[in-house]
Amino acid sequence: MTTSILEVNSLAKSFGAFQVLQDVKFQVDKGDIVGLLGPNGSGKSTLLNIISGFIAPDRGSVMLDGACISSMSTFRIVKEGLARTFQLPVMPQKMSVLEVAMAADTSMHGVMSTLLNGPSMRRAERATREQAMRLLDELLLTPVSHLPASAISGGQKKLLGIVCALMARPRLLMLDEPTAGVHPNLRQDIVRALHRLNEQGMTLVIVEHDMHFIREACNRCIVLDQGHIVASCKPQELAANERVVQAYLGTTVAEPNRELIAS
Ligand SMILES: Nc1ncnc2c1ncn2[C@@H]1O[C@H](COP(=O)(O)OP(=O)(O)O)[C@@H](O)[C@H]1O
Ligand SMILES: [Mg+2]
Repeated sequence: MTTSILEVNSLAKSFGAFQVLQDVKFQVDKGDIVGLLGPNGSGKSTLLNIISGFIAPDRGSVMLDGACISSMSTFRIVKEGLARTFQLPVMPQKMSVLEVAMAADTSMHGVMSTLLNGPSMRRAERATREQAMRLLDELLLTPVSHLPASAISGGQKKLLGIVCALMARPRLLMLDEPTAGVHPNLRQDIVRALHRLNEQGMTLVIVEHDMHFIREACNRCIVLDQGHIVASCKPQELAANERVVQAYLGTTVAEPNRELIAS
């Protein structure tokens, strides 16, 4: 029996002549919290975009729970149990935070609430609304739930992005830099929320630069450099990994600089 929920097999992607990803392969075990690290431009967001179906790879495949999802639509992939957040979430101006969360419901309730009339519609809508309000509360957004989604802070937009992804009730959630630009107080809240989700059985893949966050939140790390995977290890092994140090700090590594990664 396989314990892996995600299998990425030999992915390659070029934009024009520029090869962004080359022979990228790794597995994510059920219940893991995996940090996906790498310098800016190393291909992390492109990798997430391919896994979640937003762009097609040139080569390779992605398996979710043993089923190939490579050629599925993004919507279908979400329905299969894999949701993701975006590095720079853009929110609509004319919808409230609560409405944005409700619109992300891909379940039968969500679909029915847009198709049906009368009492059935109201029942379906109520279920979607209750789910959205519960998640907004869990991600600390209840006080701003009535505001236009475009008017909340950058950090709150990241939290709303997580709420939207969770509306699909995924088994695997991938987050693209969930704490970048987020106030330190909110950062702690995000770490706690992610741990709660993991305790409830959700597997997480988190693109992140912040080493404190990685050590607090992750039990395994995958490091990308120039489109190649250069390490797959525990967070506490990163500082001793020569290829990781080179990727972040260049080829001539002075010993004190390791503290940047270890700290
Ligand atoms: N749609 C695109 N067209 C052309 N180049 C792109 C596109 N998306 C990303 N890139 C390039 O691919 C490289 C990797 O980008 P990205 O995956 O966003 O890196 P990361 O998320 O690790 O910072 C960068 O050099 C970026 O400029
Ligand atoms: Mg990125």
